[in-house]
Amino acid sequence: MCGIIGYLGEREATPVLLESLKRLEYRGYDSAGVAVLEAPKPGSPISTSITKSEAKVDDLIAKIQAIKPTGHLGIGHTRWATHGRPTYINAHPHTDCHGRIFVVHNGIIENFAELREELQKAGHEFTSETDTEVVPHLIEANYKGDFLAAVRAALKRIRGAYALAMFSTEDPELLIGARLNAPLVVGLGEQEFYIASDITAIIPYTKRVLVLGEGEVAAVTPLGAEVSTLDGTTVKPKLVHVDWDVSQAQKGGYPHFMLKEINEASEAVANAMRGRLTDDGSVTFREFALTDEELRRYREVLLLGMGTSRHAALIGEHAIEDWAGLPARAVDAAEFRYRRPTFGPDTLAVIITQSGETADTMVGLHQAKERGALTVAVTNVFASSAARDADGAIYLHAGPEIGVASSKTFLAHLVSLYLLALRLATVHGRISLERRQELVASLRAVPDQVRGILDREQEIKTLAHRYSKYRNFLYTGRGLGYPVALEGALKLKEISYVHAEGVTGGELKHGPIALLDAKFPVIAICTASPTAEKMVSNVHEIVARDAPVLALVTEGDDSLDGVATDRFVMPAAEEAASAILNSVMLQLFAYHVAVELGQDVDQPRNLAKSVTVE
Ligand code: F6R
Repeated sequence: MCGIIGYLGEREATPVLLESLKRLEYRGYDSAGVAVLEAPKPGSPISTSITKSEAKVDDLIAKIQAIKPTGHLGIGHTRWATHGRPTYINAHPHTDCHGRIFVVHNGIIENFAELREELQKAGHEFTSETDTEVVPHLIEANYKGDFLAAVRAALKRIRGAYALAMFSTEDPELLIGARLNAPLVVGLGEQEFYIASDITAIIPYTKRVLVLGEGEVAAVTPLGAEVSTLDGTTVKPKLVHVDWDVSQAQKGGYPHFMLKEINEASEAVANAMRGRLTDDGSVTFREFALTDEELRRYREVLLLGMGTSRHAALIGEHAIEDWAGLPARAVDAAEFRYRRPTFGPDTLAVIITQSGETADTMVGLHQAKERGALTVAVTNVFASSAARDADGAIYLHAGPEIGVASSKTFLAHLVSLYLLALRLATVHGRISLERRQELVASLRAVPDQVRGILDREQEIKTLAHRYSKYRNFLYTGRGLGYPVALEGALKLKEISYVHAEGVTGGELKHGPIALLDAKFPVIAICTASPTAEKMVSNVHEIVARDAPVLALVTEGDDSLDGVATDRFVMPAAEEAASAILNSVMLQLFAYHVAVELGQDVDQPRNLAKSVTVE
């Protein structure tokens, strides 16, 4: 996963690939590589020069200067490790047994383990730990003299997400791109063509871009680019004229990284589930592969995190308690080290940190380990300190997050914790098959429902405009709605510098209600849940104090019609799924309030993406 570039044209491919990889660096990565089909030398067979670095693109450039590959066709990649450590061997491009097929890949191949086993049985030799390496071997296995046909046959076997750029020494004038659930475009230049995961890579070379659709393959030759489906049916791709500069392109045309990343929520939620969940609720984590019997030993769950990750911990606590019937405690990691230990070897400590580097959380991890708990890090960054130091890791697979305020990683954390809760519930025999199936169906519907919320951005922007005149906000909810309220309030305060706090609906009348008047609005999470009726009563109490109320309600529920000042209608969903959907709405709301107030959304004052001091 990270950045892809492919080139076919009259220029030397190497400098184009390297310049493009430099422009993709902003996304974050751990290693890089390029493969160039060498210009044929008289009397010698066609060969490919492959150069990789387990460091930065500058290191790759230094290595290539010593090799100086020449040729007009090549592919390049910056890697953000998902399967396999960030090492030289795992860096892309990957190749088949005979060094004829070269592939770079973004995404996650869900069924790579079974494909790898099948290919190994057929005699294929693998050199890396990656899921990607199955692709060149699968193409090799299907190769019968036609590279494009072999690619199509191979891709029909792959489940999951991929954006791929590929070439073969057997067909030296053909560059192939393909995508499913991961973005890929084809850039059209003068007598030259590009394949890229991100328009940023190619923006100085061309403004004309073909956007590939799901499951489509682009076959690029010196004569042009032809796009077809995996069945070989020709399709007319969408031609887009891009007028962005590099900085706009890095943000995918959005004005801020945060907005781009909120818009990646649907993909992030889908990726966190990808390949881990069956219809009947069986969950498998690759880097935390305990047997049922091993997992059954743990009778209590401790969840540690800070900030947004602590809010995710609170949601995890609720789900584990509710579904698995296990005692669960979400703890502020910075406080944890100073408390008296009341846990031991039968405790599972879940370390929640998107960066994997937060100092407070790392101290908590080490303490939990020292006191005999089994530790698992739930993190977005492969081989981060938390992932390395914990006994196991659950990766978010959300892709890089550049905006300082966490957005899509929070949602991926929720999904990961739900999956962990389901796994614990299953091994402890605390959940019926029917209930598991209901929860899975509800989680599976979330990516589409998230898209539905994102499509209503204008509605949210209008609300944000109306509420941006207030200087104080209270967010309130019950059950899972409470941590959602805490997170909604944190998002608002950190990017707009407007005071906001979260309280439970129950706590409201024990003090905070004294604050309320016509200038103190309340955001109330009233979507369907076992405590929704209680929230309706709370909203009546708030309205009686003249405070404006923006209520999030479930479609079909008219109990707050004419009561709340504004209602935002959410789709019907399980409470767990609603926590994700409500959070997306509140992220967009906070974003638009901050923009309305003219704040620096991506880099709020006094904050850093990764807080590495205690
Ligand atoms: C808020 C935010 C922070 C982080 C916190 C922990 O938007 O991003 O509150 O959640 O600093 O960071 P991680 O998850 O990297 O441990």
